[in-house]
Amino acid sequence: MKVAVLPGDGIGPEIMPAATRALTEVAPDLELVEAPFGAAAIRGSGTPLPDETLDVCKEARAVLKGPIGDPEFDAADVRPEQGVFLLRSELGVYANLRPSRNGTTDLLIVRELLGGIYYGERGTRDDGTVFDTCEYRPDQVERVARRAFELARRRSSRLTSIDKANVLETSRMWRKVVRGLAVDYPDVELQDMLVDNAAMQLARAPDQFDVLVADNMFGDILSDLAAAVTGGLGLAPSASLGDGAGGLFEPVHGSAPDISGLGRANPSALLRSTAMMLDLAFDRHDEARALEDAVDEAIASTPTADIGGSASTAEFADAVMDALAR
Ligand code: NAD
Ligand code: IPM
Ligand code: MN
Repeated sequence: MKVAVLPGDGIGPEIMPAATRALTEVAPDLELVEAPFGAAAIRGSGTPLPDETLDVCKEARAVLKGPIGDPEFDAADVRPEQGVFLLRSELGVYANLRPSRNGTTDLLIVRELLGGIYYGERGTRDDGTVFDTCEYRPDQVERVARRAFELARRRSSRLTSIDKANVLETSRMWRKVVRGLAVDYPDVELQDMLVDNAAMQLARAPDQFDVLVADNMFGDILSDLAAAVTGGLGLAPSASLGDGAGGLFEPVHGSAPDISGLGRANPSALLRSTAMMLDLAFDRHDEARALEDAVDEAIASTPTADIGGSASTAEFADAVMDALAR
Protein backbone atom coordinates (compact mmCIF):
# COMPACT_ATOMS: atom_id res chain seq x y z
CA MET A 1 0.00 0.00 0.00
CA LYS A 2 1.66 3.18 -1.22
CA VAL A 3 1.08 6.84 -0.39
CA ALA A 4 2.47 9.47 -2.77
CA VAL A 5 3.83 12.31 -0.65
CA LEU A 6 4.10 15.72 -2.35
CA PRO A 7 5.56 18.27 0.11
CA GLY A 8 4.99 21.21 -2.29
CA ASP A 9 6.11 24.80 -1.78
CA GLY A 10 6.41 27.48 0.90
CA ILE A 11 5.30 26.04 4.24
CA GLY A 12 4.66 22.65 2.54
CA PRO A 13 8.10 21.14 3.30
CA GLU A 14 7.85 22.57 6.85
CA ILE A 15 4.54 20.89 7.71
CA MET A 16 4.94 17.61 5.79
CA PRO A 17 7.32 16.03 8.36
CA ALA A 18 4.56 16.31 10.99
CA ALA A 19 2.35 14.18 8.73
CA THR A 20 4.95 11.59 7.72
CA ARG A 21 6.03 11.16 11.36
CA ALA A 22 2.43 10.60 12.43
CA LEU A 23 1.78 8.19 9.56
CA THR A 24 4.88 6.18 10.35
CA GLU A 25 3.58 5.87 13.90
CA VAL A 26 -0.06 4.92 13.25
CA ALA A 27 0.32 3.06 9.93
CA PRO A 28 3.92 1.82 9.74
CA ASP A 29 3.14 -0.61 6.91
CA LEU A 30 2.22 2.16 4.46
CA GLU A 31 5.01 2.90 2.01
CA LEU A 32 5.58 6.65 1.61
CA VAL A 33 6.97 7.71 -1.78
CA GLU A 34 8.00 11.35 -2.02
CA ALA A 35 7.94 13.23 -5.33
CA PRO A 36 8.51 16.82 -6.53
CA PHE A 37 5.46 18.96 -7.34
CA GLY A 38 4.67 22.65 -7.81
CA ALA A 39 7.27 25.42 -7.96
CA ALA A 40 9.89 22.99 -6.68
CA ALA A 41 9.25 20.78 -9.71
CA ILE A 42 9.25 23.73 -12.14
CA ARG A 43 12.71 24.66 -10.87
CA GLY A 44 13.94 21.07 -11.24
CA SER A 45 12.37 20.03 -14.54
CA GLY A 46 10.41 22.93 -16.03
CA THR A 47 6.97 21.53 -15.24
CA PRO A 48 4.85 21.57 -12.04
CA LEU A 49 3.72 17.95 -12.45
CA PRO A 50 6.54 15.89 -13.98
CA ASP A 51 5.57 12.56 -15.60
CA GLU A 52 7.47 10.65 -12.92
CA THR A 53 5.49 12.40 -10.19
CA LEU A 54 2.19 11.66 -11.94
CA ASP A 55 3.24 7.99 -12.25
CA VAL A 56 4.01 7.84 -8.51
CA CYS A 57 0.57 9.36 -7.78
CA LYS A 58 -1.28 6.94 -10.06
CA GLU A 59 0.50 3.90 -8.65
CA ALA A 60 -0.30 4.93 -5.08
CA ARG A 61 -3.62 4.29 -3.34
CA ALA A 62 -3.66 7.87 -2.09
CA VAL A 63 -1.86 11.16 -2.61
CA LEU A 64 -0.95 13.32 0.39
CA LYS A 65 -0.24 16.78 -0.94
CA GLY A 66 1.16 19.88 0.71
CA PRO A 67 0.28 23.33 -0.65
CA ILE A 68 1.95 24.68 -3.78
CA GLY A 69 2.43 28.19 -5.12
CA ASP A 70 5.25 30.71 -5.25
CA PRO A 71 5.07 34.46 -5.90
CA GLU A 72 8.07 34.03 -8.21
CA PHE A 73 5.82 32.27 -10.76
CA ASP A 74 2.66 34.41 -10.40
CA ALA A 75 3.15 36.04 -13.81
CA ALA A 76 4.93 33.14 -15.54
CA ASP A 77 3.49 31.02 -18.36
CA VAL A 78 4.21 27.82 -16.43
CA ARG A 79 2.72 28.08 -12.92
CA PRO A 80 2.52 25.68 -9.95
CA GLU A 81 -1.29 25.91 -9.87
CA GLN A 82 -1.49 24.31 -13.35
CA GLY A 83 -0.04 21.17 -11.79
CA VAL A 84 -2.90 21.08 -9.28
CA PHE A 85 -5.57 21.21 -12.01
CA LEU A 86 -3.81 18.48 -13.98
CA LEU A 87 -3.29 16.24 -10.95
CA ARG A 88 -6.95 16.54 -9.89
CA SER A 89 -8.24 15.76 -13.39
CA GLU A 90 -5.77 12.91 -13.97
CA LEU A 91 -6.92 11.33 -10.69
CA GLY A 92 -10.59 11.92 -11.57
CA VAL A 93 -11.33 13.35 -8.13
CA TYR A 94 -14.49 15.36 -8.76
CA ALA A 95 -15.81 15.64 -5.19
CA ASN A 96 -13.77 17.78 -2.80
CA LEU A 97 -14.88 17.36 0.83
CA ARG A 98 -14.00 20.33 3.04
CA PRO A 99 -15.23 19.90 6.62
CA SER A 100 -15.25 22.73 9.16
CA ARG A 101 -16.05 22.27 12.79
CA ASN A 102 -15.63 23.89 16.18
CA GLY A 103 -17.75 23.72 19.31
CA THR A 104 -21.01 24.79 17.68
CA THR A 105 -20.45 24.53 13.93
CA ASP A 106 -20.07 21.22 12.12
CA LEU A 107 -20.47 21.63 8.39
CA LEU A 108 -19.16 20.01 5.24
CA ILE A 109 -18.63 21.81 1.94
CA VAL A 110 -18.69 19.49 -1.07
CA ARG A 111 -16.93 21.38 -3.83
CA GLU A 112 -17.12 20.28 -7.47
CA LEU A 113 -13.46 19.94 -8.46
CA LEU A 114 -13.13 19.12 -12.15
CA GLY A 115 -15.30 21.63 -14.00
CA GLY A 116 -16.58 25.17 -14.17
CA ILE A 117 -14.46 28.24 -14.75
CA TYR A 118 -11.31 26.38 -13.66
CA TYR A 119 -11.43 24.16 -16.73
CA GLY A 120 -13.30 26.29 -19.30
CA GLU A 121 -11.86 27.91 -22.37
CA ARG A 122 -9.78 31.01 -21.69
CA GLY A 123 -7.79 33.40 -23.79
CA THR A 124 -7.27 36.85 -25.25
CA ARG A 125 -9.06 38.29 -28.29
CA ASP A 126 -7.46 40.53 -30.91
CA ASP A 127 -8.99 43.62 -29.29
CA GLY A 128 -7.27 42.82 -25.98
CA THR A 129 -10.34 41.38 -24.25
CA VAL A 130 -9.40 38.58 -21.87
CA PHE A 131 -11.93 35.85 -21.08
CA ASP A 132 -12.45 32.81 -18.84
CA THR A 133 -15.52 30.68 -19.48
CA CYS A 134 -17.60 28.73 -17.00
CA GLU A 135 -19.00 25.51 -18.42
CA TYR A 136 -20.73 22.51 -16.86
CA ARG A 137 -22.23 19.34 -18.30
CA PRO A 138 -25.29 18.07 -16.41
CA ASP A 139 -23.54 14.76 -15.58
CA GLN A 140 -20.71 16.68 -13.87
CA VAL A 141 -23.28 18.34 -11.64
CA GLU A 142 -25.18 15.12 -11.03
CA ARG A 143 -22.21 13.06 -9.83
CA VAL A 144 -21.05 15.61 -7.27
CA ALA A 145 -24.61 16.36 -6.12
CA ARG A 146 -25.29 12.63 -5.60
CA ARG A 147 -22.15 12.43 -3.47
CA ALA A 148 -23.38 15.40 -1.44
CA PHE A 149 -26.87 13.89 -0.94
CA GLU A 150 -25.28 10.62 0.21
CA LEU A 151 -22.98 12.42 2.64
CA ALA A 152 -25.89 14.49 3.99
CA ARG A 153 -27.83 11.27 4.57
CA ARG A 154 -25.04 10.05 6.88
CA ARG A 155 -24.99 13.37 8.78
CA SER A 156 -27.97 15.60 9.71
CA SER A 157 -29.75 15.08 6.37
CA ARG A 158 -29.76 18.73 5.41
CA LEU A 159 -28.26 19.84 2.10
CA THR A 160 -27.80 23.42 0.87
CA SER A 161 -27.07 23.77 -2.83
CA ILE A 162 -25.15 26.94 -3.67
CA ASP A 163 -25.52 28.76 -6.98
CA LYS A 164 -26.00 32.13 -8.67
CA ALA A 165 -29.14 31.11 -10.56
CA ASN A 166 -30.37 34.72 -10.71
CA VAL A 167 -27.49 35.48 -13.09
CA LEU A 168 -25.74 32.42 -14.54
CA GLU A 169 -26.98 29.80 -17.04
CA THR A 170 -24.65 27.21 -15.50
CA SER A 171 -26.26 27.90 -12.12
CA ARG A 172 -29.79 27.51 -13.49
CA MET A 173 -28.83 24.12 -14.88
CA TRP A 174 -27.05 23.27 -11.59
CA ARG A 175 -30.20 24.07 -9.61
CA LYS A 176 -32.45 22.06 -11.95
CA VAL A 177 -30.20 19.00 -11.83
CA VAL A 178 -29.84 19.10 -8.03
CA ARG A 179 -33.60 19.55 -7.54
CA GLY A 180 -34.23 16.67 -9.94
CA LEU A 181 -32.11 14.36 -7.79
CA ALA A 182 -34.01 15.25 -4.62
CA VAL A 183 -36.72 12.68 -5.43
CA ASP A 184 -34.11 9.95 -4.95
CA TYR A 185 -33.28 11.30 -1.49
CA PRO A 186 -36.63 12.03 0.16
CA ASP A 187 -35.00 11.78 3.60
CA VAL A 188 -32.68 14.71 2.82
CA GLU A 189 -34.00 18.24 3.24
CA LEU A 190 -32.77 20.28 0.26
CA GLN A 191 -32.58 24.07 0.05
CA ASP A 192 -31.10 26.29 -2.67
CA MET A 193 -29.15 29.39 -1.66
CA LEU A 194 -27.59 32.13 -3.75
CA VAL A 195 -23.86 32.31 -3.21
CA ASP A 196 -23.75 35.92 -2.04
CA ASN A 197 -26.34 35.20 0.64
CA ALA A 198 -24.48 31.99 1.53
CA ALA A 199 -21.31 33.99 2.19
CA MET A 200 -23.25 36.30 4.48
CA GLN A 201 -24.98 33.39 6.26
CA LEU A 202 -21.64 31.58 6.75
CA ALA A 203 -20.16 34.67 8.37
CA ARG A 204 -23.28 35.40 10.43
CA ALA A 205 -24.60 32.01 11.54
CA PRO A 206 -22.49 29.09 10.28
CA ASP A 207 -24.17 26.57 12.59
CA GLN A 208 -27.34 26.64 10.44
CA PHE A 209 -25.53 24.50 7.83
CA ASP A 210 -24.93 20.77 7.58
CA VAL A 211 -23.77 19.86 4.05
CA LEU A 212 -23.28 22.44 1.30
CA VAL A 213 -22.65 21.59 -2.35
CA ALA A 214 -21.15 24.17 -4.67
CA ASP A 215 -19.42 24.53 -8.01
CA ASN A 216 -15.64 24.72 -8.27
CA MET A 217 -15.22 28.48 -7.84
CA PHE A 218 -17.98 29.09 -5.27
CA GLY A 219 -16.74 26.09 -3.27
CA ASP A 220 -13.18 27.41 -3.33
CA ILE A 221 -14.20 30.79 -1.95
CA LEU A 222 -16.78 29.62 0.59
CA SER A 223 -14.41 27.00 2.02
CA ASP A 224 -11.84 29.64 2.98
CA LEU A 225 -14.67 31.58 4.64
CA ALA A 226 -15.95 28.49 6.47
CA ALA A 227 -12.40 27.83 7.65
CA ALA A 228 -12.04 31.39 8.90
CA VAL A 229 -15.22 31.25 11.02
CA THR A 230 -14.24 27.90 12.60
CA GLY A 231 -10.68 28.60 13.70
CA GLY A 232 -8.71 29.51 10.61
CA LEU A 233 -7.06 28.09 7.52
CA GLY A 234 -4.38 26.38 9.57
CA LEU A 235 -7.01 23.88 10.74
CA ALA A 236 -8.94 23.13 7.52
CA PRO A 237 -8.40 19.76 5.77
CA SER A 238 -9.79 18.32 2.55
CA ALA A 239 -10.31 15.03 0.75
CA SER A 240 -10.86 14.78 -2.99
CA LEU A 241 -12.61 11.63 -4.18
CA GLY A 242 -13.64 10.10 -7.49
CA ASP A 243 -15.51 6.89 -8.19
CA GLY A 244 -12.59 4.57 -7.41
CA ALA A 245 -10.85 3.81 -4.13
CA GLY A 246 -8.22 6.20 -2.83
CA GLY A 247 -8.04 9.90 -3.48
CA LEU A 248 -6.13 13.13 -3.05
CA PHE A 249 -5.72 14.65 0.40
CA GLU A 250 -4.56 18.23 0.86
CA PRO A 251 -5.11 21.19 3.18
CA VAL A 252 -7.48 23.95 2.08
CA HIS A 253 -4.75 26.54 2.61
CA GLY A 254 -1.92 27.57 0.32
CA SER A 255 1.84 27.84 0.61
CA ALA A 256 1.59 30.87 2.96
CA PRO A 257 4.55 32.81 1.53
CA ASP A 258 4.15 35.43 4.28
CA ILE A 259 5.26 32.96 6.98
CA SER A 260 7.25 30.38 5.05
CA GLY A 261 10.76 29.69 6.31
CA LEU A 262 9.88 30.84 9.83
CA GLY A 263 8.93 27.42 11.25
CA ARG A 264 5.65 28.83 12.55
CA ALA A 265 3.08 27.19 10.25
CA ASN A 266 0.26 25.15 11.75
CA PRO A 267 0.41 21.55 10.46
CA SER A 268 -3.13 20.73 11.70
CA ALA A 269 -4.84 21.09 8.30
CA LEU A 270 -2.39 18.68 6.72
CA LEU A 271 -2.59 16.29 9.70
CA ARG A 272 -6.39 16.32 9.53
CA SER A 273 -6.13 15.66 5.77
CA THR A 274 -3.90 12.72 6.68
CA ALA A 275 -6.58 11.44 9.06
CA MET A 276 -9.18 11.78 6.28
CA MET A 277 -6.85 9.73 4.08
CA LEU A 278 -6.56 6.96 6.68
CA ASP A 279 -10.33 6.96 7.03
CA LEU A 280 -11.48 7.27 3.41
CA ALA A 281 -8.65 5.73 1.35
CA PHE A 282 -7.49 2.97 3.70
CA ASP A 283 -10.57 2.28 5.86
CA ARG A 284 -8.39 2.63 8.96
CA HIS A 285 -11.03 4.26 11.09
CA ASP A 286 -9.38 3.71 14.49
CA GLU A 287 -6.07 5.12 13.33
CA ALA A 288 -7.83 8.10 11.74
CA ARG A 289 -9.67 8.79 14.98
CA ALA A 290 -6.46 8.47 17.02
CA LEU A 291 -4.72 11.01 14.80
CA GLU A 292 -7.70 13.41 14.90
CA ASP A 293 -7.77 13.20 18.69
CA ALA A 294 -4.01 13.75 18.91
CA VAL A 295 -4.32 16.87 16.73
CA ASP A 296 -7.17 18.17 18.92
CA GLU A 297 -4.99 17.62 22.01
CA ALA A 298 -2.04 19.46 20.47
CA ILE A 299 -4.31 22.35 19.43
CA ALA A 300 -5.36 22.68 23.07
CA SER A 301 -1.94 22.15 24.67
CA THR A 302 0.57 23.52 22.15
CA PRO A 303 -1.12 26.05 19.84
CA THR A 304 0.76 27.71 17.00
CA ALA A 305 0.66 31.49 16.40
CA ASP A 306 -2.30 31.46 13.97
CA ILE A 307 -4.54 30.02 16.70
CA GLY A 308 -3.33 32.26 19.49
CA GLY A 309 -0.28 30.40 20.76
CA SER A 310 3.46 30.58 20.21
CA ALA A 311 4.50 26.99 19.48
CA SER A 312 6.63 26.25 16.46
CA THR A 313 5.64 23.75 13.78
CA ALA A 314 8.13 21.25 15.24
CA GLU A 315 6.85 21.72 18.82
CA PHE A 316 3.31 21.15 17.61
CA ALA A 317 4.39 18.01 15.77
CA ASP A 318 6.12 16.76 18.93
CA ALA A 319 2.90 17.32 20.90
CA VAL A 320 0.98 15.26 18.34
CA MET A 321 3.51 12.45 18.62
CA ASP A 322 3.31 12.59 22.45
CA ALA A 323 -0.48 12.39 22.29
CA LEU A 324 -0.29 9.44 19.88
CA ALA A 325 2.06 7.64 22.24
CA ARG A 326 -0.35 7.96 25.19
P1 NAD B 1 -2.66 30.99 1.83
O1 NAD B 1 -3.70 30.00 2.18
O2 NAD B 1 -1.32 30.46 1.47
O3 NAD B 1 -2.47 32.02 3.04
C1 NAD B 1 -3.52 32.86 3.51
C2 NAD B 1 -3.21 33.32 4.93
O4 NAD B 1 -3.38 32.21 5.82
C3 NAD B 1 -1.78 33.79 5.11
O5 NAD B 1 -1.75 34.85 6.02
C4 NAD B 1 -1.08 32.58 5.72
O6 NAD B 1 0.04 32.89 6.52
C5 NAD B 1 -2.19 31.93 6.52
N1 NAD B 1 -2.00 30.47 6.61
C6 NAD B 1 -2.29 29.58 5.64
N2 NAD B 1 -1.98 28.34 6.03
C7 NAD B 1 -1.49 28.44 7.28
C8 NAD B 1 -0.99 27.50 8.21
N3 NAD B 1 -0.95 26.18 7.94
N4 NAD B 1 -0.55 27.95 9.41
C9 NAD B 1 -0.61 29.26 9.71
N5 NAD B 1 -1.07 30.20 8.86
C10 NAD B 1 -1.51 29.80 7.66
O7 NAD B 1 -3.24 31.87 0.64
P2 NAD B 1 -2.51 32.94 -0.33
O8 NAD B 1 -1.48 33.69 0.41
O9 NAD B 1 -3.60 33.64 -1.01
O10 NAD B 1 -1.81 32.01 -1.43
C11 NAD B 1 -0.42 31.71 -1.42
C12 NAD B 1 -0.09 30.71 -2.54
O11 NAD B 1 -0.69 29.46 -2.25
C13 NAD B 1 -0.61 31.13 -3.92
O12 NAD B 1 0.42 30.85 -4.84
C14 NAD B 1 -1.80 30.20 -4.15
O13 NAD B 1 -2.01 29.90 -5.51
C15 NAD B 1 -1.37 28.97 -3.39
N6 NAD B 1 -2.47 28.09 -2.93
C16 NAD B 1 -2.29 26.74 -3.09
C17 NAD B 1 -3.25 25.85 -2.61
C18 NAD B 1 -3.07 24.38 -2.85
O14 NAD B 1 -1.98 23.91 -3.11
N7 NAD B 1 -4.12 23.58 -2.78
C19 NAD B 1 -4.35 26.34 -1.91
C20 NAD B 1 -4.51 27.73 -1.75
C21 NAD B 1 -3.55 28.61 -2.26
C1 IPM C 1 -7.48 25.40 -3.26
C2 IPM C 1 -6.57 26.40 -3.97
C3 IPM C 1 -6.44 26.03 -5.43
C4 IPM C 1 -7.82 26.10 -6.05
C5 IPM C 1 -5.44 26.88 -6.21
C6 IPM C 1 -4.06 26.79 -5.64
C7 IPM C 1 -5.38 26.50 -7.65
O1 IPM C 1 -7.03 27.69 -3.78
O2 IPM C 1 -7.20 24.20 -3.32
O3 IPM C 1 -8.44 25.84 -2.63
O4 IPM C 1 -8.31 27.21 -6.34
O5 IPM C 1 -8.41 25.04 -6.26
MN1 MN D 1 -8.65 27.86 -2.33
